[in-house]
Amino acid sequence: MAEILAQKDALEPACRLLAAGEPVAIPTETVYGLAADATDGEAVARIFEAKGRPRFNPLIAHVADMEMARRIAVFSPLAERLAESFWPGPLTLVLPHRENYGIHPLVTAGLDTIALRCPQGFGREVIARLGRPLAAPSANISGRVTGTTAQAVNASLGDRIRLVVDGGPAKVGLESTIIKVLGDELTLLRPGGLAVEEIERLTGEAVKRGATGVQAPGMLASHYAPHTGIRLDAAEVRPGEALLAFGPDRALGAENAAKMLNLSPAGDLREAAANLFAHLSALDAAGCQTIAVEPVPRHGLGEAINDRLTRAAAPRE
Ligand code: TXA
Ligand code: MG
Repeated sequence: MAEILAQKDALEPACRLLAAGEPVAIPTETVYGLAADATDGEAVARIFEAKGRPRFNPLIAHVADMEMARRIAVFSPLAERLAESFWPGPLTLVLPHRENYGIHPLVTAGLDTIALRCPQGFGREVIARLGRPLAAPSANISGRVTGTTAQAVNASLGDRIRLVVDGGPAKVGLESTIIKVLGDELTLLRPGGLAVEEIERLTGEAVKRGATGVQAPGMLASHYAPHTGIRLDAAEVRPGEALLAFGPDRALGAENAAKMLNLSPAGDLREAAANLFAHLSALDAAGCQTIAVEPVPRHGLGEAINDRLTRAAAPRE
């Protein structure tokens, strides 16, 4: 089991673990989050590993204040108003991210938008102390009930992480409301702890509904498709192809690849997860016809890696 520390004693230990790339379960006002440094790909990969998520869904990046948020994303005047009124609080804003936004692409799953939230309480304190944003999905094993107490989190994730910070029962008890903001258009992506009516009352704008599920990234098979074609489980490299390699052994003809990047020369799935989106987009930019992808084992994080590669290879919708 993980160590459970009361939040008043946990700031330093939590920061130490987070700075060392370890995930830590932290209380927020909505639900407990399994947090890791959002700028560190391997730390983020450890979140997926601990949760046993079979897919790399994009995660929410949690910030301490507007200054941190503005370095990451572009706020329209409407987005500014929402943040000003409801942060810190149970509202997540999906916004276009900046070019050099400093967040690891495993957090955004390679999308050009990012989900941002400023949480209340310990979460916010630890982010401010660390000076870095934290990626944090709800702290539960994938498919199980979301943890709203430290004990529930420990029962579900305790043998996979080292520290659970106890902030008492989560005040809201429901995940944050997710709103996508495009200019002055608001779309509800997930109902949650902040009533949509409150948002409509403040802004005088109707929030578009009905996009939940459909718009959730990962639902569309080709959502992550690069422009270049993808050929999976390649045993050989054909003329003109780029190669996405994995592990120490090369596909036949690898020396003729137009460009090659290795997800993990040592065959480490955590390292491969951390490199996946960056390598895919770098090979995409090389302008080849096809990217040949060497086989990646399907156990552990390999399941999510293969899921993402299969989606990238799917025909465009
Ligand atoms: O209350 C909460 O939001 C909790 C606490 C810990 O902050 N976190 C949470 O995270 O619920 P998670 O990972 O369980 O849910 C994040 C949701 C996912 O459904 C994901 O698809 C969506 O946010 N999301 C993340 N980035 C997105 C993006 N760029 N566009 C659309 N949806 C996005
Ligand atoms: Mg969740």
